[in-house]
Amino acid sequence: MRFFAYLTVLLFISHDGYCVEFHMSDVFSVLTHATVGALESIPRSIPSPSKFFELSKNVLIGFPYEIAYALINDFCSAALNSNSVFVKAKFTPKIESMSFILRTKDAHISIPINNPNALWNHTEFNSSNPLTIFVTGWKTNLKHDVSTAQDTMSAAYLCRGNVNFVTLDTAAYIDTLYSWSAFNTETIGECLSNALQSLITRYPLEKIHLIGHSLGAQICGAAGRHFTTNTKRWIPRITGLDPANPCFNNGEALSGLFRGDAQYVDVIHTNPGCLGKREAVGDADFYCNGMSPLQPGSFDVSSSHSRAWQYYAESVYPGQESNFLAKECTSMQAFETNCCHGPWISMGYATPTHVKGKYFLKTHSKSPYGENSRKYYQPVCVN
Ligand SMILES: *[C@@H]1O[C@H](CO)[C@@H](O)[C@H](O)[C@H]1NC(C)=O
Ligand SMILES: *[C@@H]1O[C@H](CO)[C@@H](O)[C@H](O)[C@H]1NC(C)=O
Repeated sequence: MRFFAYLTVLLFISHDGYCVEFHMSDVFSVLTHATVGALESIPRSIPSPSKFFELSKNVLIGFPYEIAYALINDFCSAALNSNSVFVKAKFTPKIESMSFILRTKDAHISIPINNPNALWNHTEFNSSNPLTIFVTGWKTNLKHDVSTAQDTMSAAYLCRGNVNFVTLDTAAYIDTLYSWSAFNTETIGECLSNALQSLITRYPLEKIHLIGHSLGAQICGAAGRHFTTNTKRWIPRITGLDPANPCFNNGEALSGLFRGDAQYVDVIHTNPGCLGKREAVGDADFYCNGMSPLQPGSFDVSSSHSRAWQYYAESVYPGQESNFLAKECTSMQAFETNCCHGPWISMGYATPTHVKGKYFLKTHSKSPYGENSRKYYQPVCVN
């Protein structure tokens, strides 16, 4: 029912009648079927992946972001709840072609996800050091693409040193369409869990940290759940960088990263209610600049969504661990009017893995983003 209210709003405030009307009819047809219970006819009325992707772009032009994303989300739920065999069969990811990349100062060592022992046995994998795996998700745009996220995080971790930094790029497989890619996060998460299960036969579990951006955060959550089911143990920490919002709803088929998926789950929110989740899903949730969907200095949802990894990476550099200081609080307004009295807590790399609750902070509008950053901070490694 919520849906029809949105439809009305969208049609009234449309600046681009033709485009919206065209796409709305696709959505409408799916929902009509869902409403009248004709679930088996949904698969045929779901638009093709490229059409759906266009919908999610076009629907944003001229609409309040949050309403547009709520619409996409409802659409996705309807498709998921239709339990469509068609969707599952057609968009199974090619797991066998996905790879882990072990990043070193000199090389990118690529190992198929299905042969994890080759990674754990690799001469460049140093068992004395902790393991951080960074999982990327949907490619949001060209300027802030997946390889930029990986390179930025990797540069920060390699600058710190004494770490095995591994990336898992799922974007090539889940790039075309948000929704269909969301259906695949469970499968990819299970693969990641299998790889970790083979690792912990000879490596301390305590040293493992998973970090995921967007859909990557949801993949990490799925990995954590599979890992616990299979081993009765917990991954120590999962960090969700603006976990993907559309299609992930508590209690539905895709529930996404949630506290309990690891011993400690910390989440950084930078585009709440749009590309990123608004709800507090971690043990600790950091709301950067409050609940507004746009970060200061950012003028579109995808660049705000990317801020999550930009902030995190900044906090990884030695000496910058306290750049982002947050306080437990009920709202941004309370934070700004000094109504929050707890201690300052570091967001990002150095978040103490016992703090719980909702935290608020402000950032600068350009790099260095942390309000507490050193004056001469350079996001490059100089040693
Ligand atoms: C990796 O090492 C383990 C134990 O040292 C060994 O059993 C396994 O065969 C090796 N795997 C690969 C792919 O080299
Ligand atoms: C592994 O890392 C440790 C530092 O954590 C270092 O002392 C050691 O030399 C490294 N081993 C290899 C083979 O590089």
